[in-house]
Amino acid sequence: MHKDVERVIYSQQQLSEVCDRLALEINNDYKGKKVVVIGILKGCIMFYSDLFRRLDIDCTMDFMAAASYGGGTQSSGNVRITKDITADISGRDVIIVEDILDTGNTLSYIKEYLESRSPSSVRICTLLDKPSRRKKDIKADYKGFIIDDIFIVGYGLDYDEKYRNLPYIGVLRSEAYR
Ligand code: IMP
Ligand code: MG
Repeated sequence: MHKDVERVIYSQQQLSEVCDRLALEINNDYKGKKVVVIGILKGCIMFYSDLFRRLDIDCTMDFMAAASYGGGTQSSGNVRITKDITADISGRDVIIVEDILDTGNTLSYIKEYLESRSPSSVRICTLLDKPSRRKKDIKADYKGFIIDDIFIVGYGLDYDEKYRNLPYIGVLRSEAYR
């Protein structure tokens, strides 16, 4: 285990199993459809890759990145798109893949933005859901784990751009925040 990690919350095994479950749900729901799977960088990257390789539907990849002013461990309401998708999504079924749905600021902005481009549907698939901190009225259609209000890192999730490479999800020791 990394020296800055206090405890592991989700092991590699649990993460693999949750990807199996979510891919099964998506494969069932989108049978015979063409789906654009849009990952929200950078946090989505591990989850996206594990989920995407389990899809057996007709699907294409795309990515977006967003930044929100505020910093620290919480996003603000001022979301701005720093990288846009390249695909034309009009008339297409879209699934947004995100690492964690927290206040909902990021995803509610991105979902509205994508909906303005006339897709036939937009759904959200998030690995983690922290419903206790929600500020926007937004729900995930597919969710891996529901977690309490704790700050976690690993498997794509960062603190100050670090720890994304950990293959598991864990809680940082308080010393690591300094
Ligand atoms: P929201 O806009 O508040 O829903 O925040 C979503 C973004 O905040 C996620 O995509 C993450 O990048 C980040 N975030 C929220 N909670 C955590 C956490 O516990 N660890 C790491 N990043 C987090
Ligand atoms: Mg993120």
